[in-house]
Amino acid sequence: MAETVKLTFEGETYEFPLVIGTEGEKAIDISKLRQTTGLITLDPGFVNTGSCVSAITFVDGEKGILRFRGYSIEELARYSSFREVAYLLIHNVLPTHEELQNFSILLNDQSMVHEDMQHFFETFPRGSHPMGILSAMVTALKSFYPYLQSAEEEMDRTVTRLLSKVRTMAAMSYKISIGHKVTYPRPDLSYCANFLNMMFDSPVKPYHIHKELVKALNVFWILHADHEQNCSTASVRVVGSGRVNLYAAISAGIAALWGPLHGGANQAVIEMLMDIKNDRGGLSRAVKRAKDRNDPFRLMGFGHRVYKSYDPRAKILKKMVDRVFTKLKISDPLLDIAKELEEIALQDDYFIDHNLYPNVDFYSGILLRAMGIPTNMFTVMFAIGRLPGWIAQWKEDADDPKWKLSRPRQIYAGPRKRKYVAIEKR
Ligand code: CMC
Repeated sequence: MAETVKLTFEGETYEFPLVIGTEGEKAIDISKLRQTTGLITLDPGFVNTGSCVSAITFVDGEKGILRFRGYSIEELARYSSFREVAYLLIHNVLPTHEELQNFSILLNDQSMVHEDMQHFFETFPRGSHPMGILSAMVTALKSFYPYLQSAEEEMDRTVTRLLSKVRTMAAMSYKISIGHKVTYPRPDLSYCANFLNMMFDSPVKPYHIHKELVKALNVFWILHADHEQNCSTASVRVVGSGRVNLYAAISAGIAALWGPLHGGANQAVIEMLMDIKNDRGGLSRAVKRAKDRNDPFRLMGFGHRVYKSYDPRAKILKKMVDRVFTKLKISDPLLDIAKELEEIALQDDYFIDHNLYPNVDFYSGILLRAMGIPTNMFTVMFAIGRLPGWIAQWKEDADDPKWKLSRPRQIYAGPRKRKYVAIEKR
């Protein structure tokens, strides 16, 4: 007989099914809680709430484990390309040569952006944040490509359209922001090489595509490809549950990712390291401020809702930064500051007691700087990487015959019923 969990309330005992995941995680299925007991659960920030059963990504925050579809992040980062990982997340299997080739053909076919879309970029006020522009542009894709979601073939086209065009649009928006001619995608280049070329190639200075940077970008995007029910992915699933189209759901994910407590942290880390660099004694001041409960300052790139140990993605990124710097014979004073900051924090009782370790955003900005990516584009880089995850998570819901509208409840704490007061008597 299936295991249950007992709850006693007002002298009555109720039983609820126990759900056990493939890695042994346990949850109480409380879907009938209100119906049987009249109670609801209260969990601000969803700290203890499972919103779905998912077969995509496994995270063990205590042990620092991350797996996509059962494959360890370390192996994927080492042996796979971002395209393969995107395919894996969306289709649930690692592609064969033939499947990967067909996927690449679709990505190439979908890589151009409607010329009319360029006018949109030009009309955003100068200084607009690229994340706001990206979110708006992804919603606009629905107007340019209105057919989706019907047949399997159309789904594949929509998925590759998003993966390919968002990458093109990101590079395009950068070129337009600096007043340069747009560089078009090339069919002979891989997904990551194409992006770097669209960002940095110019008619007067052809871009030399460095294979180390292509490898680094593959790893960067693989590490960001999914992370189960984080803020932006949960947003994609919640927004999608209203049966909105995939573009609009992804656009909501981009908006959620923008915040400095989530994807925007990669930009905030660099800004913090810059401040430390420009301020004598800045390092110890930053650590002191982060520990002060009366100061809202936090050490950006530190801490995580799920990881209570070293984020495995940060470990890989730190090694990748060292590798790129050695191979390219470059340096960055921000890397030295970051390493020093990490060393101080990891020996400090506050950070030890609070289980605060570097997260994925701590070293990622330093890697992106080495590629020449401007700081205000960092979160866009995260968004391109997270696309396969958002798509896979949306699709997992959409393919579920029991897919329900997301609609949490609340405990009302406002005034009780009161009499309406006419305006002249207020
Ligand atoms: N610096 C200093 N103190 C911190 C930090 C930090 N970075 N992070 C958490 N704390 C403290 C916090 O002050 C609180 O202390 P106390 O219990 O004494 O009041 C305790 O740790 C728990 O904090 P919380 O905010 O309740 O924990 P959370 O699980 O809600 O926070 C977090 C997770 C990521 C929002 C938080 O660690 C944070 O703000 N980090 C900095 C921003 C950042 O790097 N975000 C990127 C997250 S990883 C990538 C992603 O998801 O996009």
